[in-house]
Amino acid sequence: MTEAVDGARFDEKTYAELQEIVARYPQPRSALLPMLHLVQSVEGRVTARGIETCASILGISAADVSGVATFYTMYKRRPVGDYHVGVCTNTLCAVMGGDEIFERLKDHLGVGNDETTADEGTGKTITLEHLECNAACDYAPVMMVNWEFMDNMTPGSATDLVDDLRAGKQVRSTRGPRVCSWREAERILAGFPDDRADEGPAGGPPTMLGLQIARENGWTAPDPQRQPQPGQDAAEQREPGPTQKQATEDAGTPEAEGDVAVDEAPVERKGGKGSAEADGKDASR
Ligand code: FES
Repeated sequence: MTEAVDGARFDEKTYAELQEIVARYPQPRSALLPMLHLVQSVEGRVTARGIETCASILGISAADVSGVATFYTMYKRRPVGDYHVGVCTNTLCAVMGGDEIFERLKDHLGVGNDETTADEGTGKTITLEHLECNAACDYAPVMMVNWEFMDNMTPGSATDLVDDLRAGKQVRSTRGPRVCSWREAERILAGFPDDRADEGPAGGPPTMLGLQIARENGWTAPDPQRQPQPGQDAAEQREPGPTQKQATEDAGTPEAEGDVAVDEAPVERKGGKGSAEADGKDASR
């Protein structure tokens, strides 16, 4: 069936792809997020028929789907332009120039937050939005075009970027990958790759600096065998408080007998990594 509840129709290909997404998951409802991305790739936003179709396929209510679509900011209820341009105005990027970039772009493009430039017939349209942290603070101030990173931006490089986008020029992320259209990016987020995932570096020098320093100093990650295991009582991992220490000292009394198991774990750790005491106990686990 390709008919949505409200009578509007998706084409056969889109409907089949929505069902293909559902088939990836043990629980159909888990498919909702990529399904909504596919809807956006076709419709340019999350439409009423997209909501109704997802609900119908998954056997849930339209209210359930709408609740998800309105919770996450990557789902848009208003049409997005050819390029979604995001400017990070979270704390670090803001103080590094993100606020200034966002104000400059609003003036340059003549739009406010979450608004789209007019289609002038010769170029592409841009939707401008201020974003929260993109987890790329080491390259602040950061922008994104259709979720591709633009690092270390300035007001000048930002206006040059949007001018190139509007003129239809091929633009690349500062990390290398070519920028595609917003609808193409949404299709990728729905799980239909464009085979360009390997374009650009996995991590640049600022991102890898911590690892480099750790290697220079011979630092290693904590032994995972010594981390709390699923189901293990977190209290067993804590250092003993004054009451527990007193109980240890009072071991042998009837009241303290029941606390011995609680106290054993902290005593274990007192030997420290590498000590014969600690290593012996670890080996017995
Ligand atoms: S504050 Fe902008 S990427 Fe983190």
